[in-house]
Amino acid sequence: MTAQLLASTADLAEGEFVTTEVDGTEIIVGKADGRYFAVEDLCPHAYVNISYGSLEGCELTCPWHGYSFDVHSGECLTGLESEQLTTLPVEERGGGIYLKQAPDAT
Ligand code: FES
Repeated sequence: MTAQLLASTADLAEGEFVTTEVDGTEIIVGKADGRYFAVEDLCPHAYVNISYGSLEGCELTCPWHGYSFDVHSGECLTGLESEQLTTLPVEERGGGIYLKQAPDAT
């Protein structure tokens, strides 16, 4: 599989994220605490877009009920310990952030 380009590093300052789509899966890609990340744009609580939320440090907070998640580990930091964001492996190369595997290739 060819690595999928998600975003340009020039578009992602610290604490910022953008959304994109790969094979029908909505994805958030951003930079938090100096590292790039990608997660599916789906809150595991009620399966809505979490990209309407806010990012502070590594903590992405869902606007709907306020639960927050670590964007690097997917761990829920408040409220739903049994739920996780789906994290996706990325690599930085030549000014781009690339997805290392397709979202459904687990
Ligand atoms: S839908 Fe995200 S916290 Fe409820």
